[in-house]
Amino acid sequence: MRVLLIGSGGREHALAWKIHQSPLVDTLFALPGSDAMERLAKRIADVSPADAAAVADAAAAHSIDLVVVGPEDPLAAGVADALRERGIACFGPSAAAARLESSKSFAKAFMARHGIPTADFAVFDRLDAARDYVRELGGPCVVKADGLAAGKGVYVCDDVAGAEAALGEIMEDGRFGDAGARVVIEERMVGEEASYYAISDGQHVAPLAAAQDHKRALDGDTGENTGGMGAYSPTPVFSAAIEKRVLEEVVHPAIRGMAAEGMPYVGVLYVGLMIEPDGTPRVVEFNVRFGDPETQPLLVRMEGDLVPLLDGAARGALERAPLPEWGDAAVCVVLASGGYPRSYETGLAIEGLDPDGVPRDAGEGVTVFHAGTARRADGVFETKGGRVLGVTARGADVREARERAYAAADAIGFEGGHLRRDIADRALGR
Ligand code: AMP
Ligand code: GLY
Repeated sequence: MRVLLIGSGGREHALAWKIHQSPLVDTLFALPGSDAMERLAKRIADVSPADAAAVADAAAAHSIDLVVVGPEDPLAAGVADALRERGIACFGPSAAAARLESSKSFAKAFMARHGIPTADFAVFDRLDAARDYVRELGGPCVVKADGLAAGKGVYVCDDVAGAEAALGEIMEDGRFGDAGARVVIEERMVGEEASYYAISDGQHVAPLAAAQDHKRALDGDTGENTGGMGAYSPTPVFSAAIEKRVLEEVVHPAIRGMAAEGMPYVGVLYVGLMIEPDGTPRVVEFNVRFGDPETQPLLVRMEGDLVPLLDGAARGALERAPLPEWGDAAVCVVLASGGYPRSYETGLAIEGLDPDGVPRDAGEGVTVFHAGTARRADGVFETKGGRVLGVTARGADVREARERAYAAADAIGFEGGHLRRDIADRALGR
């Protein structure tokens, strides 16, 4: 089988690593891929992943049997639609279905239509009306840019002043461009967060597992929201009883609802959840792709072949794919550029990696996924993004995985590099 993976980040490096292990795959291609992925995949680097027609042309030209889309932007741009029109199987939802992520107001209204538990909300296209609303609420709330903002368009506010400042950045200063022309203002939920993953072919559901991300830039969940500074799986807050509720109250109603509304959901549904203190799960957000960096520990933990699930979902035959087994535990620590999620420098040499991008002295169970790097002509890797590397380790339990990940992360470095020191602490009761 010839598989094409779309994307170039840490999540895609992890997907490439897992897909490459499948005995079903003869050749893996990556569009555009990354320098570090060259050991695993042939690159198609001259096509823009969000150019749906060009992606479909490239897939046809390379006789691709299955396309796997990593990030949300190509899905929102209709890559899956363009591929299906050409008769090429694609793991990833249509642009219409991808609105579960690309429009927060669409997702909230969808959840309301289908009785899926989530925070109360209101939608605004005008700054003055939004301001009046936060003043009326008079307390904590969450302000979100409606469109795609790489995980950074959300402001969790303690009070009215914070909410007004957030509205100013989004609607007045235009920090997110058109993505912030509309805002969603939500009730601020309390509890512990977890994300859950399930694959669907539009009708059937294959449950995967839960993970927990660390979205804030700094230790103790302080600082700004980022794309994610680390993740681990499994997560103790996500008991079997909660998983059952999430499947019954969220995943199945969502898959049924999308089908009933004429946009069957094909791909992985990422359910961001708040587990309230009494154990009630409520949806924080849907994403229409795997999490980044949650995929890194998730796939490192996953036993068995991922490809039958991806291919089964893309072909409407998910019920024939064997469900994966989940081994022990895994932790991913992100090494980020100094200044991320705001501005940062790139082009800084990374110490501790060999010319394949693999750590010189990785300990047992360690895999390093590249999120934002490039290889220089002399074989040295340099920084090329906000999130640079996802140092991921597997262990008998979260404690061991965490120790291995930090030991490996400490042997890699670049100027101004920044990592959180408390990834997975919550799982250890700290
Ligand atoms: P989102 O991109 O919608 O997942 O939001 C990013 C982060 O903001 C989430 O992971 C939560 O930590 C936080 N957040 C979003 N919405 C809410 C909410 N309604 N209540 C509390 N926290 C929230
Ligand atoms: N780590 C958060 C996300 O992938 O959206």
